[in-house]
Amino acid sequence: MIYQDAYKKLEAAGQLHVLAHFDSLTEIQQKNLLKDIELTDFSVLSYLEKREELMKKGEITPLKAMEISEIERGRAWYEELGCRAIRQGQVGAVLLAGGMGTRLGSDEPKGMYDIGLTKPVYIFERIISNLREVVEKACAWVHLFIMTSDKNHERTVSFLAEHDYFGYNPGYIHFFRQEMAPASDYTGKVYMEGKDKIANSPNGNGGWFSSMANGGIMEIVKNNGIEWLNVFAVDNVLQRMADPCFIGATIARGCSSGAKVVKKNAPDEKVGVICLEDGRPSIVEYYDLTDELMNAKDEKGDPAYYFGAILNYLFQVKVLEDTVSKKLPLHIVEKKIPYMDDDGNFIKPEKPNGYKYETLVLDMVHMMDSCLPYEVDRHYEFAPIKNMTGIDSVETARELCRENGIEL
Ligand code: UTP
Repeated sequence: MIYQDAYKKLEAAGQLHVLAHFDSLTEIQQKNLLKDIELTDFSVLSYLEKREELMKKGEITPLKAMEISEIERGRAWYEELGCRAIRQGQVGAVLLAGGMGTRLGSDEPKGMYDIGLTKPVYIFERIISNLREVVEKACAWVHLFIMTSDKNHERTVSFLAEHDYFGYNPGYIHFFRQEMAPASDYTGKVYMEGKDKIANSPNGNGGWFSSMANGGIMEIVKNNGIEWLNVFAVDNVLQRMADPCFIGATIARGCSSGAKVVKKNAPDEKVGVICLEDGRPSIVEYYDLTDELMNAKDEKGDPAYYFGAILNYLFQVKVLEDTVSKKLPLHIVEKKIPYMDDDGNFIKPEKPNGYKYETLVLDMVHMMDSCLPYEVDRHYEFAPIKNMTGIDSVETARELCRENGIEL
């Protein structure tokens, strides 16, 4: 992109400050900045004015989950169905590892976090070890697609290679990068990370499907006859992906998607709740859950919105393909954004200082015609690591690992 075009693009988006230091840059830096401007989608910033509107929800009603007692009664059959689908190569796993993990405060990719005490135990290692159990049970490898971002791609790829993919077959591991979106201050002006660099960040975990398509990965999915993609977060150290019983139960129910859920441990626990929204499956984020919904009861006297999603979803590929043409809603999220101040100093803020613009995988559930909420035991499958200490932290995850007999 040439300077004049960059100027026009920025002027139209009200972001001319991006060029403030242009004249003082070297030729290479100028090229870098022009490339950055070319690749940045500034249109997301215009959604700031519509923030209130974006947050509006439809009519929320309960959606029954398949609870553990019912799953146990059908376990043998569901596992058989799931293992059959895996053996026929119909299931792929998508690891969402493009996040920045700002709350954890480590500069490394989250999957590289070592939760060990007497020996290294990496998050990637735990997740891959769980997947290897499935491979052994089904007697077939599962293609594992790992989403990274520009911020952590090289480190993630080299770390896994250095550790021999923790015993996984490298022929079944595929990396792809997610796309980036600009981060702004509270008025919608994009932050600069340096004089020649816009503060970009990964565009949210909902970017996975379009990034897979744009990165040529859907070819691998198609060529291998993969019909189901199990999408899950890197930061749950007890995460069980490509779980044959979950896959089998979703297939048996004839649903086009499934979501692993846990019983919430308190009405205000910070997990998104599975429900129906205007008659379609949906997940209401904890901050959108009104007191009325939080305290509503079903006919048994249990909370009507009891089940929280743990970011482990199963999607039928052909239905996903039909829905991607619909645009995912944008979430404008308050975050800490490292930036360059007016004097050219690089600042890592202690408190949130602006917005990131993200799409979320949970919104894909609302685009599917049906979803099976599948209950799992939270002590066995849910140990999220969001923070260093306190709730959902390295400390709580270590405790849960110990409960599960995992040596740390
Ligand atoms: P979080 O929503 O917890 O975000 O991610 P995060 O970036 O990891 O952490 P914070 O909020 O900055 O502290 C949930 C899952 O979605 C992935 C993360 O890697 C994690 O597995 N994710 C998130 C992406 O893959 N890309 C993104 O842009 C955001």
